[in-house]
Amino acid sequence: MHVYMQVNKKGMVYVMTNELIERDLLRVFTCGSVDDGKSTLIGRLLYDSQLVYDDTLAQLSEDSKRHGTQGSEIDFALLVDGLIAEREQGITIDVAYRYFSTARRSFILADTPGHEQYTRNMVTGASSADLAVILLDASKGLVTQTKRHSYLVKLLGVRHVVLAVNKIDLVDYDEEAFNRICEEFACYAGEIGLKDVTYIPLCALRGDNLLSKSERTPWYVGPSLLSYLESVPSERSPSDSPFRMPVQYAIRPSPEFRGVAGMITSGRVFKGERLLVLPSGIEVSVKGILLGVDDVEEAIDGQSVVLTFNEEVDVSRGDLLCSYKDAPQVAEHLRATLVWMGNEDMFSGRTYLLKIGTRTVNATFEPPRYEVNVNTLEHLAARTLSLNSIGVCNATLSSPVPLERYADARAGGSFIVIDRMTMDTVGAGMVDYVLRRSDNVHWHDFEVNRDVRRQLFRHRSALVWFTGLSGSGKSTVANLLEKKLFAQGIHTYILDGDNVRSGLNKDLGFTEADRVENIRRVAEVAKLMVDAGLVVIASFISPFRSERELARDLFDSGDFIEVYLDVPLSVAENRDPKGLYKKARAGQLPNFTGIDSPYEPPERPEIHILNASVDPETTVERIMQSLIERGLAT
Ligand code: ADX
Repeated sequence: MHVYMQVNKKGMVYVMTNELIERDLLRVFTCGSVDDGKSTLIGRLLYDSQLVYDDTLAQLSEDSKRHGTQGSEIDFALLVDGLIAEREQGITIDVAYRYFSTARRSFILADTPGHEQYTRNMVTGASSADLAVILLDASKGLVTQTKRHSYLVKLLGVRHVVLAVNKIDLVDYDEEAFNRICEEFACYAGEIGLKDVTYIPLCALRGDNLLSKSERTPWYVGPSLLSYLESVPSERSPSDSPFRMPVQYAIRPSPEFRGVAGMITSGRVFKGERLLVLPSGIEVSVKGILLGVDDVEEAIDGQSVVLTFNEEVDVSRGDLLCSYKDAPQVAEHLRATLVWMGNEDMFSGRTYLLKIGTRTVNATFEPPRYEVNVNTLEHLAARTLSLNSIGVCNATLSSPVPLERYADARAGGSFIVIDRMTMDTVGAGMVDYVLRRSDNVHWHDFEVNRDVRRQLFRHRSALVWFTGLSGSGKSTVANLLEKKLFAQGIHTYILDGDNVRSGLNKDLGFTEADRVENIRRVAEVAKLMVDAGLVVIASFISPFRSERELARDLFDSGDFIEVYLDVPLSVAENRDPKGLYKKARAGQLPNFTGIDSPYEPPERPEIHILNASVDPETTVERIMQSLIERGLAT
């Protein structure tokens, strides 16, 4: 067995055993309050299931004694990557990492105090977890905190969730009571987009459905908690995820040896492979890979390695090594979701330190676009963010850095915010997307402006944005709507996918990148048209949420009205007005939305219409009604 170590500047030791990475390891995060029976549940899981206490652990324990930071205790925190930056920052957080192992797999269990105030601990614990166990008391049902935990679990991208309905004995092992709680949770989970939820009735105290199925819940057909934990896929290091390694140190012990050390946060690397160093953009090719003292051909996600290159290049701490073909954008403007952890409120305009990967830059935040009420999921207007609040802000960095969307890459898309005076960690953030800005170009205000034109036209201008699958009725409904508005003397214009693609966007196809560009151009054109005083109707599949949000951000609030024509794929496909689904099924039309290219439905459209294509007239009536309420039509 090999134990690999890495020492950072503060003398903290990182230990990673190769066996642990190769063994099937599941990172579990638990949340719930003490009253819900969390400690009992954890205690039982840890001690009752510990039939196998394997050699790996024994060995690790020896090494922790020698190198760890926890005296003779095993320092499992060393094994947990978490928000890597955060661990390096060394903030004191109240998260306990426990290790246990059964015959089938190994587990790292992160446990945090359940009180609301400890959002920051929750963020730390959940940011690296594969699975979250959300615990509640069956006799109390869903409480505010359950929702808060679930929201954060979703925000932090934890893939699998167990809703542990504990103390089921208090409701007499009643199936109905269990079902009621599950239904209520499923409703909330649906709203926030939590997908893989498993519901388990438990009595941790008596051990029901914990390690094995209980006879007291004969109606429950699912697995016990432990057997579910043993069987859920861990989804670590998917072989096709792009290679990423933030450089921790440049190693130069002698003039002959130059290497860089770091932990691979995603993908794998081979000898001879071409890599890109960001943000500089220099290319290198891998000469050697050292894993501990071994010279290896290949290394994977989670391993700490030293790489050497064929070229003599300057690579230093804070740089990011990444696969040549699939590199992140280097940018300095971003939209992020922030969880504020500072006792002092966020100060927009103030310079903070932002640490992403191993790189630290200066950053300023604009006032929040909105704050999220995690109970009602409402977007609230906010001028600042205070302790434990979650909001969405634009940030500007002092220099360009590699940025990824958190949804695509948890390691490359998460950062922490540090107060420059106190050096306290005051926020954790997730990159929603990179914002494009052009420097040295300034918008010129002309005197005949939008407001003057609105007065002349005697109506407001706005953008009504239709999104939905091909065949969902967008063009039909847009046409009817425009006729109605036109009849009222409203100045309108339709921007339609097929039409715009035959001119302005003739050069674009249907790859993801082309669709993103399609929507960007259309949104910019629509913005000019709204400035010209028109009510613009845009009709595009616009399958990606983030591009629709980018479009929305170009407009004043209230001027962008998203209309989701929600039609099941089967209905759109049956309708197939242009015969395109048929072609796509026959393999003649690649990247067809709904077939081999995704559609991400809006989370909170202004107008949501089911099966618009069945009855376009009624659909238009409903849209008109909503436009009247918004003061756009009469
Ligand atoms: S979007 O995805 O970039 O928003 P857009 O609305 O502009 O798409 O164009 C969609 C129209 O292009 C469809 O209505 C259809 O007529 C046509 N089309 C041709 N190929 C495809 C494809 N692979 N996927 C979707 N639509 C396609």
